[in-house]
Amino acid sequence: MKGRQAFLLTLIIGALLLGACSAGKPRISFDELDFALADAGSGEKLFNQSNNEAPACSTCHSVTGEQSSIGNSLAGLAEIAGSRVGGQSAEEYLYWSVLRPGRYLVAGYSNIMFADYEDRLEAPDLADLIAYLGTLD
Ligand code: HEC
Repeated sequence: MKGRQAFLLTLIIGALLLGACSAGKPRISFDELDFALADAGSGEKLFNQSNNEAPACSTCHSVTGEQSSIGNSLAGLAEIAGSRVGGQSAEEYLYWSVLRPGRYLVAGYSNIMFADYEDRLEAPDLADLIAYLGTLD
């Protein structure tokens, strides 16, 4: 009986550890992104359309100064992104904002951003999106 309990406990701890790891590490790593090949024009298209049935970014975000009650306006992001989180470059911040939106919350907004872009976008799409976000002044 004791051995069986220990076995079950090991299984549970293992499952928890596995869960914690997959929640921390995005499927697409930052180093995989090739910004030299990224295209802001394609990023703009991706921003405004649904990708693999995920909601379009534009459902919740405007890129003009206009504020929506759902997501903040992304106007000015080019200047803001690099100073949102200490130690993160603009590209790194934008990468985490899309793949792990709950990590840093914009003041006044809650954690309601669609959280599964990781499984709906490929690395080149993400690089294009980040390139586009970096043009928003
Ligand atoms: C269901 C609504 C929703 C969708 C869809 C959505 N977002 Fe968001 N997003 C939010 C909300 C709300 C916030 C503010 C809270 C937070 O920081 O997570 C946010 C925050 C952000 C931020 C941080 C902005 C800042 O000022 O620092 C970025 C960047 C961003 N989203 C990009 C995107 C991109 C790119 C997409 C599409 C791939 C997208 N979002 C789709 C709701 C959404």
